[in-house]
Amino acid sequence: MSDATFFKNIGEYADADKYDLINNENWYCKYGYVPTTMYYVSLYGAGKTTMEFGCADGEYSLMYYEHAKPIKAYALSLFAEEIESAKQKLAMRGLSDALVEFICHDCSIPRQITEDGVDFTYSIWMLNNATNLTMLRNMCENLYINTKKGGKCLILLATADNLMGQLIDQKLHVRITDIRAVKDIDPATGREEVVGLVVDKSLMCDNPDAEGETFFLRDCFYSDNRVKATMESVGFTNFHQVPTLPLPTTEFGCPIEKAKFADQTHYKYFLADKM
Ligand SMILES: C[S@@+](CC[C@H](N)C(=O)[O-])C[C@H]1O[C@@H](n2cnc3c(N)ncnc32)[C@H](O)[C@@H]1O
Repeated sequence: MSDATFFKNIGEYADADKYDLINNENWYCKYGYVPTTMYYVSLYGAGKTTMEFGCADGEYSLMYYEHAKPIKAYALSLFAEEIESAKQKLAMRGLSDALVEFICHDCSIPRQITEDGVDFTYSIWMLNNATNLTMLRNMCENLYINTKKGGKCLILLATADNLMGQLIDQKLHVRITDIRAVKDIDPATGREEVVGLVVDKSLMCDNPDAEGETFFLRDCFYSDNRVKATMESVGFTNFHQVPTLPLPTTEFGCPIEKAKFADQTHYKYFLADKM
């Protein structure tokens, strides 16, 4: 597929009204991770089997399915309500679970979903819910056991080195209530270091639909070294960072004046192989 076709197709999906609006901005598109995920799902999942970990209410899973056309997509998430909503969306699009199967499961508990695994596993904004290193390892192991031999795995991480960038955002009224260091032997230095940070924060959101509500979020940030070591300890090889798309923001339904604020330093994408 040419770049022009890719951007045209994706532009049709990434309609600013359709996705999460925070402070009247299309946050998902602004920071470019929907297009980037879609790019990699298409590259490695088209005509193959895929499995998404932490799929929420399936909005994005269905978008990825419709764009990449895997022969079968699985999508897992923690809460029964999310999966119920995802299944309703599936039915409304006239699709069946023979094509996209939504499964309620705690992905920090390793469980083999299919006998041989799938060609492409991916997890976007879920590993940041691992509040300790055991949970992080279990999530990585889950990705590993569900990836077919010869398959690939894509993860998105909010890493510790860009933590402050995440938090300094006055418009969202972020209040930090607690930050705890996760210490362990840093695989890069061999010394005990801070390898991760757990941040509890309450977020007063300007989204008009959520007026007056306070959300309590927990985000965990691990260093690239720690995540690399964890992914390798469960068996993945060739763990490396891959680029986010150089995003022409306006193509994705975001107002042009927002485009100049788009930056892609808040998160990183990594790819790994299962040999
Ligand atoms: C921020 S949402 C990301 C949704 C989607 N992947 C995306 O790209 O927008 C994080 C999702 O991960 C799910 N999640 C968090 N911890 C999980 C766990 N242990 N097992 C399964 N899902 C989990 C949450 O329920 C939530 O739906």
